[in-house]
Amino acid sequence: MSWEEDAPALLPRPLRLRRGTGAAARFADGMTIAHDPSFRAVARWFRRELEAAGGWDVHTTEVAGEEQGGVLELRRRAVACAAEAPERAAGEAYELVVSGGRAVVTAAEPAGAFYGLQTLRQLLPAHAYRTAPPGGRADEMLLEPVEIEDAPRFSWRGVHLDVCRHFMPKGFVMKLIDLAAMHKCNVVHLHLTEDQGWRVPVAKYPRLIEVGAWRRESPVGHRDDGVFDATPHGGFYSREDLEEIVAFAAERHVTVLPEVDMPGHMVAAIAAYPELGNTDEPVEVLTEWGISDHVLNLEESTIQFCCDVIDEVAELFPGSYFHVGGDECPTKEWEASPRAAALMAEHNLTSERELQGWFTARIAEHLERRGRMLVGWDEILEGGAPPGALVMSWRGEQGGIEAAAAGHDVVMCPQEWLYLDWAYADDPAEPVAIRPATSVERVWGYEPVPDAIPPDRRHHVLGTQCQLWTEYVPTPERAEYQYFPRLSAFAEMAWSRRSGAGFSEFERRLRVHLTRLSALGVNYRPLEGPTPGQARTWTGPRMEHLASPLEPAGEAPSPGRP
Ligand code: ACM
Repeated sequence: MSWEEDAPALLPRPLRLRRGTGAAARFADGMTIAHDPSFRAVARWFRRELEAAGGWDVHTTEVAGEEQGGVLELRRRAVACAAEAPERAAGEAYELVVSGGRAVVTAAEPAGAFYGLQTLRQLLPAHAYRTAPPGGRADEMLLEPVEIEDAPRFSWRGVHLDVCRHFMPKGFVMKLIDLAAMHKCNVVHLHLTEDQGWRVPVAKYPRLIEVGAWRRESPVGHRDDGVFDATPHGGFYSREDLEEIVAFAAERHVTVLPEVDMPGHMVAAIAAYPELGNTDEPVEVLTEWGISDHVLNLEESTIQFCCDVIDEVAELFPGSYFHVGGDECPTKEWEASPRAAALMAEHNLTSERELQGWFTARIAEHLERRGRMLVGWDEILEGGAPPGALVMSWRGEQGGIEAAAAGHDVVMCPQEWLYLDWAYADDPAEPVAIRPATSVERVWGYEPVPDAIPPDRRHHVLGTQCQLWTEYVPTPERAEYQYFPRLSAFAEMAWSRRSGAGFSEFERRLRVHLTRLSALGVNYRPLEGPTPGQARTWTGPRMEHLASPLEPAGEAPSPGRP
């Protein structure tokens, strides 16, 4: 079946799709999902979704092997297309065949069965994404015969959310996880600690929440306007909230990656525990956007604090990675600190950047003892990244290229393509954003494996991730606007191989996909531009800021976050 024709609008695009033969499958009230015993959780998840959308009773029943039963079957067996996925993503491959009045999803692992069902759901009408049907009961839904084989291009397909610059309620985090999973993304990276707010409880240090979760006020409009809202802001998740988020994500085959950013971006912690800082000057949880000079001191007691925090946070997040940030850490305070000078002398370090590298290595040792791998932003390369550290390349692609050359695994997150806090267009109708402009097409067109990485190092690129920093994203609704539909374009780039078909072919499928996002109540940006309710309302003195041209990547001094 050619993608240029009237193929089903599957997004991300599967590896192979053929029109099938035989009778369509009819999903209706009373239908049965027959599943291999090991796919019970996947079947239950889909049953709940269908029951809600259809207002139906859906039954699940366990069957072993190739035994038949049910209009939908989930079979466990190795699938040939798994060989086309990276080794660590082989379990995400699946086949989906609709024929003879039945839909059959086959996969070797629950993740593959889950993605098969995500694809199957896109073969149903968009109202299959609703949580209740009109009149309480939907008509039957027909699945036309089709044969699909599918496997991801990358094993790391990540979506990042900063819950610090603006606190995002638990319900939104779970909605985002659900949407990520719908798009076959498998990592949701939560940026949990910042200068402007600390969002994760640590029993040993209660003031991190009591003090660190709250700030006095926030900027309004663009930060260069210097206008503040005189309104306190904050929030945090309870341990139970985080356990719920992690369990909800696990049911959707999403790993939640926690980030505790250190040794910079720590003002909220220093406000709570001044002994972590370098000066006697009192600091408050930061009320402006930007990079603060206040960073952790690197005393033994501070390293112990970091390890204690990691221990408690790691308990909540069971994945094999732990993100410790490492980005944007000014060395100004260390340069003025006799204690930092003494530490450098003690450890034969010749620069403050090496001191940061020494700190990161200490943290990596601690994580290794806990069986976790360290993740850091590409700045960790500057102090000599610890062996085995995974590097997220955000300041363009150079960090990723160097990290892969040095044998590190890499996730490509370059801001010029994948920072979704940038505006969609350089247009005054766009809500105030940190920078112009990243279109849907630009995200879609990103290639995560730069030519500069030699073929024998390309396996180090585990995948790619889109980022949403929230200085200019005060609400979940606004976050949805920034993500969608760019996240849909990102998902296609992260899952699917490049094909000869261009952006217009993707756009055809995306237009259909938007009807699914509508059914889900997502505040996406229409392809034509913001609706009146979404468009910019801020008229501050520096609103023309956004009209400045995009600096060419790599030429400007590292712009950082605002
Ligand atoms: C970053 O944007 N500072 C990772």
